Amino acid sequence: MMRKKIVAGNWKMNCNLEEGQKLTSEIVNMIRDERSKDVTVVLNPPYVHLLSVKKLIGDIPGLSVGGQNCSDKDSGAYTGEVSAKMLASFGATYVIIGHSERREHFKEDNKELTDKVKQALNNDLTPIFCCGESLDIREAGTHEVFVKEQLSESLFGLNDADFARLVIAYEPIWAIGTGKTASSDQAQEMHAAIREHIASQYGQPIANTIPILYGGSCKPENAEEIFSKSDVDGGLIGGASLKSRDFMDIIQSF
Ligand code: PGA
Repeated sequence: MMRKKIVAGNWKMNCNLEEGQKLTSEIVNMIRDERSKDVTVVLNPPYVHLLSVKKLIGDIPGLSVGGQNCSDKDSGAYTGEVSAKMLASFGATYVIIGHSERREHFKEDNKELTDKVKQALNNDLTPIFCCGESLDIREAGTHEVFVKEQLSESLFGLNDADFARLVIAYEPIWAIGTGKTASSDQAQEMHAAIREHIASQYGQPIANTIPILYGGSCKPENAEEIFSKSDVDGGLIGGASLKSRDFMDIIQSF
């Protein structure tokens, strides 16, 4: 089964305008020169960069722009919020939903995330839905149950056609920004469990088409090993996506 391979860069709250443009231009140039493989690359800068990033990447095939979040509401008096419809109007085609930093610092819960996913889908954005356990949960051995519950609670109300449009990112919280990566076997084990869980609800054919990305201290040094696993379809890259050479090397790791 050929699934879409995706490497998405999550810039988080980094880069001023000049830095963002420089980083994007470097990536665009490298992709023009070097990329031969069939990998979809998504840049997820802070909202304020969307337009300049979109202009710089233009219509290069396989290179897309996405948001890091969107509102669970359509429009209206929600000061500081940005809607999925706005993201789409700026040329975004992806949006990260439910990143653990959003869950932790902004108290996003599984129910609110359902509404965000629906907003994204209604506006033709592909949600990159994040899940993953804390260190406590990993050490208690309940990580699979926890992650499955995150998925069921937020996503299992979707119909088959909508579910089939999702990308899932498994990001163990203990590996994010810590330099401590899950081993490729730990990643494979969880990705397989996620796919099996999806199959139990939506059937194997849909489960087989959903890209499941790994995130958490993914670097050029470990990407090849992690991406070689059968249920790992790419990565959601934080720190290393801010260095064009590292990001490109990760893209080339397939
Ligand atoms: P990291 O972040 O690659 O810096 O660990 C990944 C993420 O949070 O998406």
